[in-house]
Amino acid sequence: MNDIRSENIIIAVPKGRILEELVPLMERAKIIPEKAFFDDKDRRLLFSSNIPWLKIIRVRSFDVATFVAFGGADIGVAGYDVVKEFNYPELYTPIDLKIGSCHLSVAEHKSFNKIDNFQLKIATKYPNITGEYYAKKGINVNCIKMNGAMEITPKLEMADKIVDLVSSGKTLIANDLVEVENILEVTSHLVINRTAFKIRSENIRHIMILFREALNE
Ligand code: PRP
Repeated sequence: MNDIRSENIIIAVPKGRILEELVPLMERAKIIPEKAFFDDKDRRLLFSSNIPWLKIIRVRSFDVATFVAFGGADIGVAGYDVVKEFNYPELYTPIDLKIGSCHLSVAEHKSFNKIDNFQLKIATKYPNITGEYYAKKGINVNCIKMNGAMEITPKLEMADKIVDLVSSGKTLIANDLVEVENILEVTSHLVINRTAFKIRSENIRHIMILFREALNE
């Protein structure tokens, strides 16, 4: 194992929207990233922090659970949607950070009127959650796996419905969609690699305590 991996605890944090809520929480937890971390133009992915043995990686929100499950990071901040979609047995999710609140919903075009549910086509970033949700209802669906812009697919008659995150609801309205079912309430959780938790228990527990204190738990 190289020095970076063996001598540090690595925490994976998501880029983008969640980071705006995560940074103040990290501040309250007294975890302060180095300055370059806040510079969007900085192309580095690995940053130091005020805690000498804690390094931070900034990755896509959808990849956080994967970084932690495969041991690239020990700890991560992942949306419950991502935790559920990948369902990695290696992950332990002990703390709800109560940020990034939104929900995963089924939406369809406001004039959608297909009566039967035979072979619904659903555009989504979440084929596993979607497949499982419809399987429980006894409905067979074809998921079209996409990475974004699925909101336009019903209008283009490419999909019958979409399954995606809804926060303010503005994206749905802007694309003439209506929310029809709420599948999952989502917030960001602290995720931990189970093996790392056994081997590096003292340091990981320290980080968990800092987050719990910041949340006043
Ligand atoms: C998410 C989601 C929707 C949008 C919903 O995308 O996929 O497109 O936010 O938010 P709203 O209900 O407030 O309009 P995001 O902007 O996070 O980017 P992404 O497509 O890269 O996931």
